[in-house]
Amino acid sequence: MLPPGPAEPPAIQSARWLLRPISFMESCRRRFGEAFSVRFLGFRTPMVMVSDPAAIRELYTERRHGLPPGRGVALLPVVGPRSVLLLEGPEHLARRKLMLPPFHGERMRAYEGTVRDVVERDVAGWPRGEPFAVHPRMQAVTLEIIVRAVFGVTDPVRGERLRALLRGLLDATASFGLQFGFMLARRLGAPDPLEKLRRQRAQIDELLLPEIRERRAQGGGEDILSLLLAARFEDGEPMADQEVCDQLVTLLVAGHETTATALAWTLELLVHHPAALERLDDGSDGPYLKAVISESLRLRPVVPLAGRRLTSELRVDGHVLPAGTDVTPAIWLTHTRADVYPEPFAFRPERWLDGAPSPGYAWVPFGGGVRRCLGAAFAEMEMRVALAATLAAVRLQAAEAAPERVARRNVTFSPARGTRLVAWEA
Ligand code: HEM
Repeated sequence: MLPPGPAEPPAIQSARWLLRPISFMESCRRRFGEAFSVRFLGFRTPMVMVSDPAAIRELYTERRHGLPPGRGVALLPVVGPRSVLLLEGPEHLARRKLMLPPFHGERMRAYEGTVRDVVERDVAGWPRGEPFAVHPRMQAVTLEIIVRAVFGVTDPVRGERLRALLRGLLDATASFGLQFGFMLARRLGAPDPLEKLRRQRAQIDELLLPEIRERRAQGGGEDILSLLLAARFEDGEPMADQEVCDQLVTLLVAGHETTATALAWTLELLVHHPAALERLDDGSDGPYLKAVISESLRLRPVVPLAGRRLTSELRVDGHVLPAGTDVTPAIWLTHTRADVYPEPFAFRPERWLDGAPSPGYAWVPFGGGVRRCLGAAFAEMEMRVALAATLAAVRLQAAEAAPERVARRNVTFSPARGTRLVAWEA
C-alpha cells in the first residue's frame, strides 16, 4: 500500500506541478504529511514523495536503486547512451570513479581565475541604474565557464560555433512546448518531438570529435576534457571518443542551467535582504559568503526532485514501499522543515555559521549517495567566485519590492521574472 495522495486525475496533478509546484507540494504536505503519492501524465505508476531526512538517508545509501522513470527517455537524445546521468549499476560506478578526481574539491582552485575573468567581463556590460533581469546574464556566464573550464576549447572559430550550437541545444531542452509535447506524445503515441534534439546533438559531436582527437595527440591541459582524456578505467582503458562527447554534453546539461539559476536565486535573496548584502558588499570571499550559498541552496533548491526506482523495499512513515516503486525526496519540503530549521522560510545565512548543526540528509540540494551531483564542488566554487567578483564590481538593489515567485523551468525551480535588479558602480 503506497502512501495516500491527491485524488485528481494525472492531467490535473501534472498541470498543478508544472504551473504551481510549491503550492502543490505544500498542499500535499498539509493533507497527507511526510510521504504522499502523486500521479503525473505519461507515467504508469505513482511517484512517492518523501521529506523525512531519515527516509532520504535510507533511499540514498542503498547503491542498487535504479534511475527514476522518465530520465532516460527525455535525456537520451541530448546526452547520449553512455552518459553518466543515464548508466546504472557497475557501468555507472566505473564512470563515477573515472570522473570524480577531475571534480575533486582541491582541484577546483585551478578554475577560479577563469570564473573571475568571465564574470568580470560580463558584469562590466550590465546596464547601470536601470532594471534588468540577471538570470539570462548568469546563463551566459555559466555557459562560457563550461566552454572554457570543461571543454577547454581555445580556437576562437571553433569556440564561437560550439557556443552557438550548445546554446541552441540548451534552448530546445528548456522549452515548455517540448516538455508538454513529450508528455503528450508518450500518452498518445504521437510523432517523436525529440528528433530535432537528436540532429542538434549530432552537429555538436561533429565539432567535438576532431577537437578530442587533436587533444589526445597533444596531451596535457588543465581543463576537464583534458583530464578525462588522461584518465583510465580500472582495466587501464581510456574512455572512447564518442563517450567523451556524451560526458561533455552531460556536464553542460547538468551544470549550466542549475548553476545559473542558483546564482540568480542567491542574488534575488540578497537584494531582498539588505543586511546580508551589506555584510558581503566588499566582495569578500569568506565564511559568510559560504553561509549565504548554503542558505540559498536550502531555501531555493534549484533541482526539486532527485529520485530513484527502488530495487528493494523502503520503509517510510509507517509504509513499506515495495521494490519497483518510484520514490523521490521533495527537496523543497525537506529544506523547509521547522524541526531542523527554526523559522524555515526565513533567509538566515547565520544559521550556517559557528556551531551550526550538520543537517545531514536534511540538506540535499545536490542529491546523495552514488548519484550525488558530480559537479557539486565545481558549482560551489563557481558560485563563491562569481558572487565575490560581482559584488566587488557593482552595488545591487532589487528592482521590485516583492520577492520573485518560484516557477518551474525545465527540471529546475527558477525565479519567475529572472531576478530583476538594478546595478550601480561600486
Ligand atoms: C548549483 C548547481 C547544481 C545543482 C543544484 C545540482 C544538482 C544536482 C542534482 C540534484 C543531481 C542529482 C543527484 C541525485 O540523483 O542524487 C545532480 C547530478 C549531477 N550533476 Fe549537478 N548540480 C549543480 C551543478 C552541477 C555542475 C556545475 C556540474 C558539472 C560541471 C554537475 C554535474 C552533474 C552530474 C554529471 C550529475 C549526474 C551524477 C550521476 O548520476 O552520477 N552539476 N546535480
